[in-house]
Amino acid sequence: MMNLQKCAVIGTGFVGATVAYTLATSGLFSELVLLDANRAKAEGEAADISHGVSFAQPCAVYAGDYQDLADCGLVIIAAGANQKPGETRIDLLHRNQAILQSILGAVVPVCPDCILLIVSNPVDILTYMAGKISGLPAGRVIGSGTVLDTARLKYLLGQHLRVDSRNVHAFIIGEHGDSELAVWSSANISGVDLPDYCRVTGKRATPESLDEIYRSVRDSAYAIIEGKGATYYGIGMAVLRIARAIVRDERSVLPVSSLVTGHYGVSEVCLGLPTVLGRNGVEAVLDIPLSYEEKKQLQSSAAKLRGLLDEMGLEG
Ligand SMILES: NC(=O)c1ccc[n+]([C@@H]2O[C@H](COP(=O)([O-])OP(=O)(O)OC[C@H]3O[C@@H](n4cnc5c(N)ncnc54)[C@H](O)[C@@H]3O)[C@@H](O)[C@H]2O)c1
Repeated sequence: MMNLQKCAVIGTGFVGATVAYTLATSGLFSELVLLDANRAKAEGEAADISHGVSFAQPCAVYAGDYQDLADCGLVIIAAGANQKPGETRIDLLHRNQAILQSILGAVVPVCPDCILLIVSNPVDILTYMAGKISGLPAGRVIGSGTVLDTARLKYLLGQHLRVDSRNVHAFIIGEHGDSELAVWSSANISGVDLPDYCRVTGKRATPESLDEIYRSVRDSAYAIIEGKGATYYGIGMAVLRIARAIVRDERSVLPVSSLVTGHYGVSEVCLGLPTVLGRNGVEAVLDIPLSYEEKKQLQSSAAKLRGLLDEMGLEG
């Protein structure tokens, strides 16, 4: 029997440790198992987080082995190489492909009914691979997709228009990477489109300023890595948001990455699209309206990912 109160985090580097800390303080889980190729690192992180549990809510946080995943409902994979300054996410592909393969070989036999959440990069390619290797139903294999990128967009647009980012409704979709796009055609502030919002509030959202915001979102990771070596707080909070939608069966719409089957003429790739998420994973992928130009950009993002999958011999 699958236990949705139990979560595993595989890979406890910058991202995995932050995810574990964020989940432990959320009260969402009663059990968190941490695994890392470096067992001492997982043990150290588990002990450090456990020491703060009495300030939060009861949660058993421990370093484990694969057999500890037996009834685990959610398995989060954050293992593998991260970007070094100047590296793209795609540059990590060959290193992280082998790591993912070895992890899935150990995870799937012990918890064949879990939901897999891939965070390691390049996240869309690895999510597709995980679907193929694991044999799990497509809706139970999810990547963090453009959830973080969309949060960055909401933050920056909220700053630009001086409005609460929670009232900004706009998506980054496509690859979590250099070919992602902002869906400006349906961006709105609580139902009011951007031109009307600007007219009422005296703000300005010129094509140039929106493009600058898009570029800043797209290049955020490069800028943060240049400054502090890795990104982890934003993704930690994004993973908590995804986990909450699943564990609490919230049916929230989040742009996670999952197998695309014919949306916008795209199929046999995983990429970030607005998705209804609940306790079974993907409940539905939504066809939000796109302009002609946005649809072309999405198709080109998908073609880039499919090309990489073809090179890896992962035909659809
Ligand atoms: N999806 C996103 O939005 C997003 C955001 C930030 C980072 N990331 C990605 O997350 C991944 C992790 O980044 P990081 O900064 O934590 O890297 P890191 O180097 O700090 O940590 C990686 C950890 O993985 C462990 N590991 C390696 N091989 C393993 C294996 N076979 N089994 C178990 N553990 C293994 C390492 O020991 C290390 O502790 C990277 O691929 C990075 O690009 C994704």
